[in-house]
Amino acid sequence: MTEPARYQLRVREIVRETEDACSVVFDLPAGAEDEFVYRPGQFLTLQLPGADGPVARCYSLCSSPHVDEGLLKVAVKRVRDGIGSNWINDNLAPGQTVECLVPAGVFTPKSLDEDLLLFAGGSGITPIMSILKSALHAGTGKVVLVYANQHEDAVIFAAELRALAERYPERLHVIHWLESLQGLPTRAQLKAFAAPFTSYSSFVCGPSPFMESVSHSLRELGVPPARIHVERFQSLAENPFSMASAVAAVPVGDAEGRTASLQVELDGETHTFEWPAQTKLLDFLLDRGLKAPFSCRQGACSACACIVSEGEVTMLHNEILEQDDLDEGFVLACQSLPVSDVVKIRYS
Ligand code: FES
Repeated sequence: MTEPARYQLRVREIVRETEDACSVVFDLPAGAEDEFVYRPGQFLTLQLPGADGPVARCYSLCSSPHVDEGLLKVAVKRVRDGIGSNWINDNLAPGQTVECLVPAGVFTPKSLDEDLLLFAGGSGITPIMSILKSALHAGTGKVVLVYANQHEDAVIFAAELRALAERYPERLHVIHWLESLQGLPTRAQLKAFAAPFTSYSSFVCGPSPFMESVSHSLRELGVPPARIHVERFQSLAENPFSMASAVAAVPVGDAEGRTASLQVELDGETHTFEWPAQTKLLDFLLDRGLKAPFSCRQGACSACACIVSEGEVTMLHNEILEQDDLDEGFVLACQSLPVSDVVKIRYS
């Protein structure tokens, strides 16, 4: 039986950000600090109580690994009928613990020194805030943020953004867009915001229509897809906390007993195996006792993403990685089968 790597996070503080959004500050779990090293833009998968049993939900980290030492912070806005978001806003309190998987995700800049054009809609500010703070603190580039909200009282992190803009007047430019005053931003308006910054790397997070409008506008301006990063959260079809233990290294298809020579770098250690060609990489690694990260196991969340540094794999299913991720060598371990005879994998 394969157990997922799960941890108990203790709530240090709840910060009321707006009427319907709060930030949850967690202490780093003692003894597991290395597992919780994360990159700006990544997310946590939390297990929360639901009426019909526990549910798993993914929340982006809004803290920065370069600024907010010793803590993890997520911001959660109520979603109508949302089980997880309403439970957190109504019930979670300091001192309580929440079960959690390690940070994951590929919505993260390659370099903090590049110029960044950030688009956030509503609570989509959470991973954007992590990227923005990290870039300002640990990078050298310029940062432009276009932040759309329904009305002024709904602006999460308004004071923090004001303080950052005052502290980095040469490097940070924040443009607020309020639907109550200006209506929904049109594609032409989004294009006008982005036009001076087409050489920047863009990161987009918010409601689907907003992300679609922004990426369409950027493409129309000729920004190459490799510089348009969109955070797509798929809802988890199953609870990874409860289903993970039931999955063994199940072969798929018929590969006539072929194996690939596999080298895996994970948590500072290098492992070598003969990898059966019909067994998905994540299943195989978990079966071998490695603590490889994962969440949905369905190709929808990117928690299992790793980099192919040598050789080739094929993915059975991919709903989350974009072309620029693939170009960088990212694959989903939960969906990968070997193609070449030698494959080297690295978890970053
Ligand atoms: S675990 Fe979610 S995509 Fe692989």
